Amino acid sequence: MTPPDASAGTRVPAPDLVIRHAGELVTCAAPAGAAGVSGPPSGGAPAAGQPRDAGALGIVAGGALAVAGGRIVWVGADADLEAAVAVGPATRVIDAGGRVVMPGVVECHTHVVFGGDRAAEFQMRVAGTSYQEIAEAGGGIMSTVRETRAASREQLFDRGRRHLGWLLRYGVTTVEVKSGYGLSLHDELRILEVYRDLAEVVSQTLVPTLLGAHTVPVEYTAGSGGGPEAYVDLVVDRMIPEAATRGLACFCDVFVEEGAFTLAQARRVLEAGLEHGLRPKLHADQLSPGGGAELAAEVGAVSADHLDHVSDHGIAALAAAGVTAVLLPGAVFFLGLHDYAPARRLLEAGVRVALSTDFNPGTCYTENVFLMGTIASAHMKMTAAEVLLALTINAAHAVGLAEDVGSLEVGKRADILILSTTNHLTIPYHWGVNPVATVVKDGVVVIEGDDAARQG
Ligand code: NIG
Ligand code: FE
Repeated sequence: MTPPDASAGTRVPAPDLVIRHAGELVTCAAPAGAAGVSGPPSGGAPAAGQPRDAGALGIVAGGALAVAGGRIVWVGADADLEAAVAVGPATRVIDAGGRVVMPGVVECHTHVVFGGDRAAEFQMRVAGTSYQEIAEAGGGIMSTVRETRAASREQLFDRGRRHLGWLLRYGVTTVEVKSGYGLSLHDELRILEVYRDLAEVVSQTLVPTLLGAHTVPVEYTAGSGGGPEAYVDLVVDRMIPEAATRGLACFCDVFVEEGAFTLAQARRVLEAGLEHGLRPKLHADQLSPGGGAELAAEVGAVSADHLDHVSDHGIAALAAAGVTAVLLPGAVFFLGLHDYAPARRLLEAGVRVALSTDFNPGTCYTENVFLMGTIASAHMKMTAAEVLLALTINAAHAVGLAEDVGSLEVGKRADILILSTTNHLTIPYHWGVNPVATVVKDGVVVIEGDDAARQG
């Protein structure tokens, strides 16, 4: 936090934007020495006059901040604003009216571009057919692949734009976006090109990931298709080099699971990605324990995602290697399963924990990222502080952008939310609703909220 300076000469010169009268300025700035790792669960009474979680979340009670050139230039107590910041006639001043102000949400695991939907498949699941049974019968991911290949570029673009628009309304200002529903050289690159084009028109920062190894497409498994190894060859020899050379992806992801890719195949893909400058990510230990977390640690992955069935050994490996665990409880919930990722054991082992929707047409078709916080609280026993860190700074670590986004600190992008609540504890508590009123991206108000504070 910038110390206030009473001398007018060294005040922050006329900023573009000031947000003041935040009842709780939830900075999500790591307490000294914690480097973005979630602090211990909150407990006991907060210090006099301070909100609960004040330490873990870096909350300034009665806070304000200033923005210039799209970056945060001052953060502090509202009482110090005049002394520290030279608010000018051109400065827009927003009165937060005692409400919560927090960093823009970082969505660190989504599959936003695809064709069609799986509403009918959901009814099959309601009737008792499992996700794996549907996939084995040619549905699941492959059904979305067929619809994605059949869709025009324009259809994919329009649909993706719509979903990103909904994510923005939920305060998501940075989004990791995966390919994975093309599964041919042409179709995977086409999805990545659509993300590149979307990045030109949407408000959010997009972080593209090549997920060519999402599943082995049916043309490789049927008849004389060459089998899974031939498909892995395509990913390694063609998709990764092209996506990397053309600057279409930052990360390389693999779905490690029975019926998808083995550990050995995943290692090949991720090592090829690394050779081309694509940092590894994994869909690991989702439906069964498969050693995915251990592989993530071995290859130095930036994140290991899902982890519903991670082993104790896998947890220790993630902690030792500093891999961020991205937990996706919406997928467990929507699949009607019961094995949520062991968030408490991960946190207690010192693993940095992030949360995300896993937005996709099969296992989690919702943009409501705050709902993930409620499921994580109710079923995984994550505190409100842990949830908020998981949606912001820890998610920023999962996409390699922790220096730039995920907390309200001087020098970071001015990605800022004003919520409609005055108390951050109500964020996971008042569930299913959208707590976001105003969204600021790179210092620009992209969603204008109303001023009405609500209770909870
Ligand atoms: O993250 N686990 C693999 N991939 C997606 C689901 C994709 C789908 O069913 O379309 C996931 O849950
Ligand atoms: Fe996923």
